[in-house]
Amino acid sequence: MKSSILIVDDDKTIREQLAEYLSNDYVTYTASNGHEAVRNINENSDIEIVLSDLKMPGMDGIELLKKIQDINRDIVTIFMTGYSTIESAVEAMRRGAYDYLTKPLDLDKLEITIKNAIDNKKLRAENIMLKERIREKYDSVEIIGHSNKIKEIMELIRRVSSTKATVLVLGESGTGKELVANVVHYNSLVADGPFIKVNCSALAEGVLESELFGHEKGAFTGALYMKKGRFELADGGTLFLDEIGDLPPSIQVKLLRFLQESEFERVGGTKTIKVDVRIISATNKNLEQLVAENKFRDDLFYRLKVVTIEVPPLRERQEDIPLLVDYLLKIFTETHHKQIKGIDPDAMKIIKSYNWPGNIRELKNCIESAVVMSIGDRITVESMTPYLTLKHRARVSSGKSPENLFEIEKNAILAAITKYGNNKVEAAKALGIGLTTLYRKLEQYGVE
Ligand SMILES: Nc1ncnc2c1ncn2[C@@H]1O[C@H](COP(=O)(O)OP(=O)(O)OP(=O)(O)O)[C@@H](O)[C@H]1O
Ligand SMILES: [Mg+2]
Repeated sequence: MKSSILIVDDDKTIREQLAEYLSNDYVTYTASNGHEAVRNINENSDIEIVLSDLKMPGMDGIELLKKIQDINRDIVTIFMTGYSTIESAVEAMRRGAYDYLTKPLDLDKLEITIKNAIDNKKLRAENIMLKERIREKYDSVEIIGHSNKIKEIMELIRRVSSTKATVLVLGESGTGKELVANVVHYNSLVADGPFIKVNCSALAEGVLESELFGHEKGAFTGALYMKKGRFELADGGTLFLDEIGDLPPSIQVKLLRFLQESEFERVGGTKTIKVDVRIISATNKNLEQLVAENKFRDDLFYRLKVVTIEVPPLRERQEDIPLLVDYLLKIFTETHHKQIKGIDPDAMKIIKSYNWPGNIRELKNCIESAVVMSIGDRITVESMTPYLTLKHRARVSSGKSPENLFEIEKNAILAAITKYGNNKVEAAKALGIGLTTLYRKLEQYGVE
């Protein structure tokens, strides 16, 4: 595909000759001043390079550069300048212009400069994409766990990997739905294509619609330019619709049509757009119930759940906890530059007996806090105390009571003491904690 160049010069002859000369290798646009240039860039999203005169009546080159950067930071700007204005050309480069050429133009040099600019841009884009990939890999890629439920999920992902089937991911908050969506995409036929995410609950209905499907110029007040939606951006890849349970009815209709026919129109548009996009959606809501309450279309529901992956809450796969804790310890030890080698058995006991209403996200917060608070090279019950106490306070202030770590710990300790007839040495031994820890705990609870 040819790259597009916008040539900006108030001198008509230069403008036209350059356009003519470059038109063999590039798509060319021309503008006679800064304002016209800005309009051009807004209307033609394919423009990658601006070749502009520096000194122009009205808006000068530096001002134009600023405007270009506001519109699209990826556009490369090259200035043309006479000897008398080289100083401002240098200033322009300092502000982010790619290069400058002196007038009269040396056409060979012009060609090389443009070619280099394009190569450079491609490299930069690749670099950003790679970095993005690496970041995503670090954050997730791997679903940690060896419980049967996790193995089943991995098997399911393997089975859908060679298809483009629509996938619905269900599960409580913090269980790893987004992680599963990531893994499905990066193990699919379209892994090299884009992975675009949209949170359906974060935006107002109108905004969400144009975010998803794009809009035409003039579609509504403020729609000054055509804008592509996420469906178009996801062409050749995956669109992840998070919190799908919050999708407003009007958009449910449009999504249903897309799932049936792979096509849609931009908001305010009549042109039908066809794209090739795999849909993964996720929610922590009970969609069946929403369907029963007429808040979610049943035909859409069936289209979305061609393959359903249910991510179980952490409390139903406690055998994964030690692995997860190890993994999280490694991550946070590194991020916080700590030297932590492991976790004490009594601390692990507390973690395992907690019911984790916030699932893995909560476990992550707890371990991060423990890593930060730890003094020695192991996570101890003490290093977890600040997190536990905080949870305790949160519980007291919110008034409702999901069983929390603080309570579990307190109940376990008091139960042990009762069981061993007030013999604290025995109780401490049974709990696997030191006697001093036991006394400090009792003091904390205000128990004699
Ligand atoms: N099995 C797992 N192995 C490793 N990390 C995990 C696992 N499950 C979840 N995580 C991590 O826990 C955090 C929460 O997961 P995620 O955002 O995928 O949850 P979610 O189900 O989408 O939550 P919500 O419903 O709140 O949006 C993320 O940082 C994710 O990387
Ligand atoms: Mg999520």
